[in-house]
Amino acid sequence: MASYIHVVLLFVSIFSLFLLYSSSSLVPVRSEYEVSLLFEGWLVKLNKSYQDLAEKEKRYEIFKDNLKYVDEHNAGNHTFTLALNVFADITDEEYRATYLGTLPTPTGIDMIDDNGNESDEYNLNETVDAVPDSVDWRDLGAVQPVRNQGGCFSCWAFTVVAAIEGINQIVTGDVVALSEQQLVDCERKSCDPYDLDRPMQYVMKNGGIDTRQDYPYTGVYAKCNTTKESNKVVTIDGYKRIPSNNEKILKTHVARQPIAGAVEGYERAFKLYGSGVFTKYCGTALDHAVTLIGYGTEGTQDYWLIKNSWGDFWGEAGYIRLERNVNDPAGKCGIAKTALYPTKVNLGNRN
Ligand SMILES: *[C@@H]1O[C@H](CO)[C@@H](O)[C@H](O)[C@H]1NC(C)=O
Ligand SMILES: *[C@@H]1O[C@H](CO)[C@@H](O)[C@H](O)[C@H]1NC(C)=O
Ligand SMILES: *[C@@H]1O[C@H](CO)[C@@H](O)[C@H](O)[C@H]1NC(C)=O
Ligand SMILES: *[C@@H]1O[C@H](CO)[C@@H](O)[C@H](O)[C@H]1NC(C)=O
Ligand SMILES: *[C@@H]1O[C@H](CO)[C@@H](O)[C@H](O)[C@H]1NC(C)=O
Repeated sequence: MASYIHVVLLFVSIFSLFLLYSSSSLVPVRSEYEVSLLFEGWLVKLNKSYQDLAEKEKRYEIFKDNLKYVDEHNAGNHTFTLALNVFADITDEEYRATYLGTLPTPTGIDMIDDNGNESDEYNLNETVDAVPDSVDWRDLGAVQPVRNQGGCFSCWAFTVVAAIEGINQIVTGDVVALSEQQLVDCERKSCDPYDLDRPMQYVMKNGGIDTRQDYPYTGVYAKCNTTKESNKVVTIDGYKRIPSNNEKILKTHVARQPIAGAVEGYERAFKLYGSGVFTKYCGTALDHAVTLIGYGTEGTQDYWLIKNSWGDFWGEAGYIRLERNVNDPAGKCGIAKTALYPTKVNLGNRN
């Protein structure tokens, strides 16, 4: 009799342990000590230090709060993970104030043809189905290493430069790193938000753009160096705007070359993105320029492959994959809303 009760008790306790385990999901319970170890490890990894102890304490609390959000997300069954990336010690407000800003909508001009003339012609009958199922321009040498815009709101310059570097490599075979700083100093004349049209127009009108080596990135605005500005190393013929809100058309263009685009990065999950295909809620009010460098499908999940300019300690070594073919015509995070590309001769000869 006694042993029977024991067996029942044992069974009940195992069962309740099981219930406890499954209901609490898999969110790790972390001691203060463990969190502090994670924080110290993170600081070493980023080679980061703070001016005083008070600042360190403050950053630790923010780190802890971000960690909680990351842990809770990662305990769920999602197509992507969050991570203690480069933004792990800043608040959402700081992130939005420093790294995001409303991109002005360019007015008037829809497209510019190869002669630099305005054009509203667009052949919507492009062979939408005749493009590959997946493309990764990194494999084809048209994408240079991920860079870091720092505290300057110059994402638009990085995106325009990445698109020009891409088409230049595709057409000429040359891998030439180009100058974001020139666009900041000589065209925008500040570290403020900007659209993607005017920097493209500037490169056309200037007759080219200097190399990154000659006119290196500093992350702060300085007076335009006109000697360097006259170093027109890489040219483009024009640029074109891709019709908005159509992921199919966007795909045909990404299959041809890296494309300058923009997203909304407002959500906390975007800030702390780690890896996988981002499928969580995201608005479409564009506040950050990025470069589309490919697309593909993971399992059944279609995605856009996107190069960012927040260094390689964010996302998948500096890249993010965004859900593709969503119900909203604007695309995930508004990726299909605004996209344009530089044109350069001989592209048509390429297969
Ligand atoms: C780490 O940062 C310090 C200054 O904060 C700098 O002197 C040093 O060169 C950095 N080390 C690396 C490996 O980046
Ligand atoms: C996780 O989600 C996927 C896709 O929604 C589903 O197929 C799978 O069964 C889920 N796994 C668990 C453990 O819930
Ligand atoms: C483009 O504009 C220029 C004047 O700015 C004009 O001479 C030229 O004919 C135009 N080209 C086309 C193809 O319309
Ligand atoms: C697009 O295709 C339709 C139907 O095949 C045709 O009527 C139309 O003229 C085409 N438009 C262009 C710009 O080629
Ligand atoms: C501008 O660039 C030239 C050539 O690279 C350099 O010699 C000069 O010092 C620069 N001017 C300024 C103001 O930095």
